[in-house]
Amino acid sequence: MVLIAATVCTKSGKALVSRQFVEMTKARIEGLLTAFPKLMTAGRQHTFVETESVRYVYQPLDKLYMLLITTKASNILEDLETLRLFGRVVPEYCTQLTEAEVLNQAFNLLFAFDEIVALGYRESVNLAQVRSFVEMDSHEEKIYQAVRQTQEREAANRMRERAKELQRERLEAAKRGQPPRSSSGFGSGFGSSSMSSSAAPEPVTDKMPTTPVRDTSRPSTRSAMKLGSRGTDADSFVSRLRSEGDATASAVAAPVKVDKAPVANQKDVHLRFEERLNLTAGRDGDVQNFELSGLLTLRITNEQFGKIHVHVDNKDTRPLQLQTHPNVDKEAFRSEGVIRLKQAQRPFPLHSDVGVLKWRLTHADAAPLSVNCWPSEGAGGGCDVNIEYELEQEHLTLSDVNITIPLPSGNPSVVVHQWEGNYAQKGRSIIWSIPLISRQQKSGTLEFTVTPAIPNDFFPLTVTWTSDSSLALLAATKVTQAEDGSAVDYSQDVSFHADKYEFV
Ligand SMILES: *[C@@H]1O[C@H](CO)[C@@H](O)[C@H](O)[C@H]1NC(C)=O
Ligand SMILES: *[C@@H]1O[C@H](CO)[C@@H](O)[C@H](O)[C@H]1NC(C)=O
Repeated sequence: MVLIAATVCTKSGKALVSRQFVEMTKARIEGLLTAFPKLMTAGRQHTFVETESVRYVYQPLDKLYMLLITTKASNILEDLETLRLFGRVVPEYCTQLTEAEVLNQAFNLLFAFDEIVALGYRESVNLAQVRSFVEMDSHEEKIYQAVRQTQEREAANRMRERAKELQRERLEAAKRGQPPRSSSGFGSGFGSSSMSSSAAPEPVTDKMPTTPVRDTSRPSTRSAMKLGSRGTDADSFVSRLRSEGDATASAVAAPVKVDKAPVANQKDVHLRFEERLNLTAGRDGDVQNFELSGLLTLRITNEQFGKIHVHVDNKDTRPLQLQTHPNVDKEAFRSEGVIRLKQAQRPFPLHSDVGVLKWRLTHADAAPLSVNCWPSEGAGGGCDVNIEYELEQEHLTLSDVNITIPLPSGNPSVVVHQWEGNYAQKGRSIIWSIPLISRQQKSGTLEFTVTPAIPNDFFPLTVTWTSDSSLALLAATKVTQAEDGSAVDYSQDVSFHADKYEFV
């Protein structure tokens, strides 16, 4: 007696939102969904249909269907009751029962579906518990992260293709003796972002994050709805919901709160700029690999601010590649630097982190911090090591900077002569910590002698930091109401760190 999946699909069986509650392959669930329209006999008003292996119970929602797939052993009366509850949840989130709106609310619907199922699995719930379960849930965050990783992978692949294409064009142009076109393709400003140019293939991410077909069930206790597994007593989840009426349904459908550490002073409209960097450089500072990836997320927690415009200013002159979310009006961003939804009458989703803009910078010689490490062989088989750092991008402030220098194996003697900040020897490395590097305090040195050692021992040297300034010169200037252009108060945080920053 298991609920296999809950799906909102079109009449032709195309899944818009689908949540699987048991482990199954994507092919299997897609097969089940494709079979569904073929099983329905025209003109008949049945609300369920069975095959040899499963039962479909469904309810029309205008031109769409709310569809549950259950095992055949499941209690059909309860299935129908549950279907009604799912059917009620959908219009709670979707202002219209259209494909576009369902896609737009896909996240919210998935969380609400999860809540229904999670609650169904619990032995005994009352309204107050329902609320607290909903509030405790941090599932949204996990889905968001998973979706984002997929998006980034896809974007990376597209960028690689695009970069190859540009390189080809450049080479061909060079052959023909024409000036390279690259600067116009990758120029500064929003207008010429190559990622949002129409030459880029319409992103696969059009489906993300709005149509995730989730094929893994929630781990641990939330794996499946076992209706009737506690017997057919009238005290089941469904009948309790019925007796508590719509109040419960709306509690179930209440927005899921994310229980990540609360950010102080977060306003109803919150912007988060997050940048990550991978950099590999040689010992003489030549940058071998540079990959910056940035994401702007928007979180709105008051429906009054659902329809807003976020104004973004790009002062960067490097070849930043910008890409807006498929639901964002590309043209408005390109021409005015305004982030708003394509469908102006629609609000942004509430209570979730919505990735609205991504940027990338690759193959750039824009290392934020140079680290120059000079080991020289001294007397007695040892090395005198002289390390110097310097802030190369002066608009940045880097905090908690740690430069980790490996030491040779064995038990070498380490004598430190001079340093800025602090140092500590930890196992086989020296960690040199500098609390703050900024325009005012942009360089520092560390000198030590290690015996015995050879110059190769001190590489690769790695660097970590935290920062609330971003490498790209990209910033929000204001947020306004779509309707009348009035200013909206907002908060923001900026974070920039290195996934990997090493000198090899
Ligand atoms: C850096 O590299 C790691 C591993 O190769 C990868 O997982 C990560 O996404 C990369 N980060 C960026 C900003 O490209
Ligand atoms: C830097 O190193 C110190 C001491 O080892 C550690 O406490 C701190 O968390 C490190 N900071 C970062 C940003 O890794």
